[in-house]
Amino acid sequence: METDNLVSEFYQRYGKAGGMPRIYFSPGRVNLIGEHTDYNGGYVFPCALGYGTYLLVRGTVSPEVRFASMNFDFTASVPLDKLPVKAGNEWINYPMGVFNEFMKIGVPIPKGTELLYYGDIPDGAGLSSSASIETVTAYMVNLKYGNNLLDMKEMALLCQRAENSFVGVNCGIMDQFAVIFGQEHHAIFLNCDNLDHELVPLKLEGLKLIISNTNKKRQLADSKYNERRGECETAVEELNKARPVRNLGELSLAAYEEISDHISNETVQKRARHVVSEDQRCIDAVTALKGNDMEQFGKLMDRSHDSLRDDYEVTGFELDTLVEEARKIEGVLGSRMTGAGFGGCTVTLIKENAVGKFIEKVGAEYKRKTGLKPDFYVADVGNGVREIKGKPDPSG
Ligand code: GLA
Repeated sequence: METDNLVSEFYQRYGKAGGMPRIYFSPGRVNLIGEHTDYNGGYVFPCALGYGTYLLVRGTVSPEVRFASMNFDFTASVPLDKLPVKAGNEWINYPMGVFNEFMKIGVPIPKGTELLYYGDIPDGAGLSSSASIETVTAYMVNLKYGNNLLDMKEMALLCQRAENSFVGVNCGIMDQFAVIFGQEHHAIFLNCDNLDHELVPLKLEGLKLIISNTNKKRQLADSKYNERRGECETAVEELNKARPVRNLGELSLAAYEEISDHISNETVQKRARHVVSEDQRCIDAVTALKGNDMEQFGKLMDRSHDSLRDDYEVTGFELDTLVEEARKIEGVLGSRMTGAGFGGCTVTLIKENAVGKFIEKVGAEYKRKTGLKPDFYVADVGNGVREIKGKPDPSG
C-alpha cells in the first residue's frame, strides 16, 4: 500500500491539524524449515516477507492512546493512567501487551498517542501477523519514547514476553526474531537456545518460493500449540531419568533414540522424535543451501512436512491436501506446512517455469477436495522492522 494512502486514512480518522504521523513497518515471515523447534532450544530457518504491518503514529495533547486499524473494525481510546487494558480477543491486545512490557521496564507511554495500523499479511495464515504487530509497536515505543533503550535482540524477547503473558500464547522466539532481523535475499539460521544467528544468502536462481494459503480458519490452534509445548516439557522431564537433558534441541537423533524409552507415553515419544529429527533437517537444509543443492533442500522440506504430519500431528486435511497436490506438479522440489500448523499456509520450492501450472492445478484440485479456495503468493523476501522515513511528527 502506498504510504500516501495510509496518511490520508490517518487524517480522516484523527484530523490533519496535528501534522504528519511517523510511519513504521514490520514484515511477516515464512519459515523454510525447522518447525516447532524454537521453544525446544533448536534451530529454525525463516525469512522475512515483503508483506507486513504499517504503523502510523502521532503524539497529541489529549491524555489517551487511540487505537485504530484498517483491517479490523474495533477501535479504542484508553486513558494513559488506565494502560494496559485487555479487550476480549481483540487485536489491540498485541500492542497493549507490548506497552505492558515496556511499562514493566520503566518505559510508560508518557503522552497522548494516536495509532493507526494497516497490515497486508493475510490474517491468521501462520505468516506472523501477530509478531509483526508486536514488533512494529515495540520498535516505535523504543525509538519514540524509550530513547533506544533496547537493542534488537532485547526487543524480540520483549515482544515474545508480550505474547506469552498478555495474549496467552506460549510462542517461541522465531517469529519476533525473524521479523526484526530479516534481510532481503537472505534467510536467518537461528539457534533458539542462545540466539546466535547467521544470515544465509537465498540464491533462488530459476526457482521461486510459493506460499499457499489453505484459508482454513485455525480453530483451537492456540490451545493445541500450548498442548504440544506441554508434551515437549513432559518428554524432557522423563528423559532426565536417563541423563541430564536441558531441552530437546541438545539431543542428536542417535542420542535421543538411545534414551527414548524413558518416555512412558508413545504419543509424547513421537512428539520428541519430531523435534529432534527436525532440528537435524534444519541443519542439513542450511548445508544444502550453502552448497547450492536445492534438490536436497526440497527433499528435506518434504520430510519435514511428513514428520509434522505423522509425529507432531499439527497438519490436518487441508495442509496435507495442499502438500500432496503440490508434490504431483513437475518442477516442485519440495513442499511443507509452515508456522504453527492446524491450518494456515504451506511453502513450496518450485522451478520458476512451473509456477503457472502449479497455481492452476493445485488450486483446482484443492478446491475440489476441500471445498475451499486457496490463495497463492510468490514470496518476496524482504527486510526487517524499520521506520519509513517521511516528514517527522512535529509533536515528537
Ligand atoms: C508459531 C510460533 C513460533 C513457532 C512456530 C512453529 O509460529 O509463534 O514461535 O513455534 O509456530 O515452528
